[in-house]
Amino acid sequence: MSEQTAEPKDEGKKKRKKKKVKAKGSPAAAPARPTVVEIFSTMEYGPAPETDRVANAWLDAHNRKFDHFIGGEWVAPSGGKYFPSENPGRREPLAEVAEGSPEDVAKAVAAAKAALPGWRALGGHGRARYLYAIARHIQKHHRLFAVVESIDNGKPIRESRDIDVPLVARHFYHHAGWAQLMDDEMRDYVPLGVVGQIIPWNFPLLMLAWKIAPALAMGNTLVLKPAEYTPLTALRFAELCKEIGLPPGVVNILNGDGRTGAALVDHPDVKKIAFTGSTGVGRIIRKATAGSGKKLSLELGGKSPFMVFEDADLDSVVEGVVDAIWFNQGQVCCAGSRILVQESVADALLTKLRARMERLRIGDPLDKAIDIGAIVAPVQLDQIVDLVKLGTDEGATLWQPSWSCPTNGLFYPPTILSDVSPASTVAQVEIFGPVVTFMTFRTPKEAIALANNTRYGLAASVWSENLNLALDVAPKIKAGTVWVNCTNVFDAAAGFGGYRESGYGREGGKEGLYEYVKPRWKEEAHGRPELTPTPSEVGLAAPAEPEDDGPRLPPIDRTTKLYIGGKQRRPDWGYCIDIPDASGATLGQVGRGNRKDIRDAVEAAHAARGWAAGTAHLRAQILYYLAENLAERQSEFEGRLSLMLGNPQAAEREVALSVKRLFTYAAWADKYDGAVHATPLRSVTIAMNEAIGVMGIVCPNRHPLLAFVSLVAPALSTGNSVVVIPSERHPLAATDFYQVMETSDLPPGALNIVTGHREELVPTLSSHDDVDQLWYFGPSEGTEAVELASAGNMKRSWCEHGAARDWTSEREAAGREFLRQSTHVKNIWVPYGE
Ligand code: NAI
Ligand code: MG
Repeated sequence: MSEQTAEPKDEGKKKRKKKKVKAKGSPAAAPARPTVVEIFSTMEYGPAPETDRVANAWLDAHNRKFDHFIGGEWVAPSGGKYFPSENPGRREPLAEVAEGSPEDVAKAVAAAKAALPGWRALGGHGRARYLYAIARHIQKHHRLFAVVESIDNGKPIRESRDIDVPLVARHFYHHAGWAQLMDDEMRDYVPLGVVGQIIPWNFPLLMLAWKIAPALAMGNTLVLKPAEYTPLTALRFAELCKEIGLPPGVVNILNGDGRTGAALVDHPDVKKIAFTGSTGVGRIIRKATAGSGKKLSLELGGKSPFMVFEDADLDSVVEGVVDAIWFNQGQVCCAGSRILVQESVADALLTKLRARMERLRIGDPLDKAIDIGAIVAPVQLDQIVDLVKLGTDEGATLWQPSWSCPTNGLFYPPTILSDVSPASTVAQVEIFGPVVTFMTFRTPKEAIALANNTRYGLAASVWSENLNLALDVAPKIKAGTVWVNCTNVFDAAAGFGGYRESGYGREGGKEGLYEYVKPRWKEEAHGRPELTPTPSEVGLAAPAEPEDDGPRLPPIDRTTKLYIGGKQRRPDWGYCIDIPDASGATLGQVGRGNRKDIRDAVEAAHAARGWAAGTAHLRAQILYYLAENLAERQSEFEGRLSLMLGNPQAAEREVALSVKRLFTYAAWADKYDGAVHATPLRSVTIAMNEAIGVMGIVCPNRHPLLAFVSLVAPALSTGNSVVVIPSERHPLAATDFYQVMETSDLPPGALNIVTGHREELVPTLSSHDDVDQLWYFGPSEGTEAVELASAGNMKRSWCEHGAARDWTSEREAAGREFLRQSTHVKNIWVPYGE
């Protein structure tokens, strides 16, 4: 590997930095010392290896063989099987670790379950003390963790030492604080119980911390399965749990491959699965847990744009690219793997990048002077090689530095693929290696379109000296994190997670805590008898009970249509359904919507996305107006509802509460604020609550007006556009609402209503790729199918599991839970200072 001697001026900064590294490392470089003249003519480095003596001694102390960590003890695997973990930088075996069978999983889950009551009873302060002790101990054993991480994973010691491990400690400190504050800040929430956590190999200890810290803080106990390529730091962490006296069973660590993970996912006592890894496995887990009521958070893949506008500081951009795609060999879910650069500066940037790449150093992860370490495993290296070949076959131009990689480990050189078309494979799929694509754009609008032209939505990086432009672009990018003039910065105080096929849920920040709790009322309502549906509440399929022969009101002949794009529309099929009143007599007809109607409604909802871009004040005004117009028609609605429900008092209450609820969300529209997170960097980190996009909502049969309003209003108030399937049994409550909508200035397409048979409508809505979130409050038998179908585009879904919600209760049926389910948190990092 040789340095270029004639280097552009702009590289001076980096050179200075490198010299420093060299000066520090040179004493360790044993062979013949070069002369000063030689040093200046070649700018060559000697190796500066970090010693692995202590790490080896630790492995030897365990005879290089590790059992499971269950109930605070080392437990041999029931199947007696062990598998090896190797050092990918030297292709040397490091140790053997136990392989978890379903019996081992059962043992670990039982240990976690047994530890639960004590851990919860300890209270926030007690748990805070343990989390604090973990953080302290991580710091005390900082170097050992860093070295073990680098030899097991292949990442440069500079990164494990200066980034991964410090962030791990920071996560435990930060969450010690959340444990302490839980009683106050999370007083309406309770722990979930035993959680299962499955993590990948790219940041083994950091992902462990992201999972374990919030779970413990919120009073859960857990079983964690590390990735099969990188089990070692988690085992050292297990030992640390023993050292600090963490109660046995609170943390259990079980190794194994995907089969062990699958057994953990399937265990009935596991109440939640937190997963980080590939979108493919995320989808398998979504399907495996469908209908089970297990809570799920998924941090999946990405293809994050790195957007360079023409006024950006190109020297900073070059260093940004180094951090974006060559950090951790590009094996980073949020790696900036697609450079999108404004045409006018594209050539200049490419030239600078190539010069910088010539001087990147690749080699032994324990060498303190290297920039790029080893790829974690042969299969991952093969994937990179194959995808790059596919890229060049598809017409991309490949550029790699002139030097070649060491051959004693799994190495791949930094690579740029230019002349890439937006639809080509390498521009769409995750390569998960040090390979970046290079594309150009002309206008900010085109840049945003290209940035969003992916199934993923994890992160983005925006480079411009014009903050107005950057802050205009940031909200338009579909991604959970946007870094302005920086990249790959993380902190425990800021949430991290995806949009679209990058998964859902957040890790870090207050927003991350909700992944590990449930509303307190759910627990209090546990065992509450299911509200037995009255005949008027069940679906149409059930025969209506004949009423006693009182005086009958004459039937009102009325056929309502569907409501799509702000217009009443005939159903595509041209069929109607008879809707009975409480006595079984026909009260009216509604259109029988079909697949096509759902598709049209979704299209109309997409066309109405301007709703989100409007002001919160405007949304508030329109919700107030809906309330006003509903109140105006109060007696009319009461009369109809009374016929549907056969209960005038219930009808009266239903209308009054619906008006009140519209007021609630009119009030919330401009008050569901985000936050500015206190991250330790010189950065304003803005956490924005953003509309999810197009939402599908399936209403319950009961409370045909109140539940409809309780679901639709929060979704609209936060700026989503909605396709709603109203109560199947009592759709007329929703279709009567058309008149209210038509007089309330709601923009066309913001709220679309498709009536009909649930089984004919829900499958299309829940599997539709352009629906971003689905709320399903239909009969519980339907949840499994909905959650299965949602795996297609990894849409967020919210299904009611456990105790049925009381729609008349403010606590259970209104407020922050609904607002949180209507929004994504996007964190925008804006650094300041020169
Ligand atoms: P993976 O998704 O298979 O592995 C992640 C974790 O899931 C590991 O602990 C694994 O044992 C476990 N797992 C595998 N199958 C499972 C199942 N059916 N049920 C439960 N757990 C299961 O990722 P893999 O194969 O290591 O890497 C393949 C590709 O995935 C990479 O090339 C990259 O594109 C992507 N990836 C993305 C990551 C991210 O941070 N977003 C991390 C790791 C991989
Ligand atoms: Mg390994």
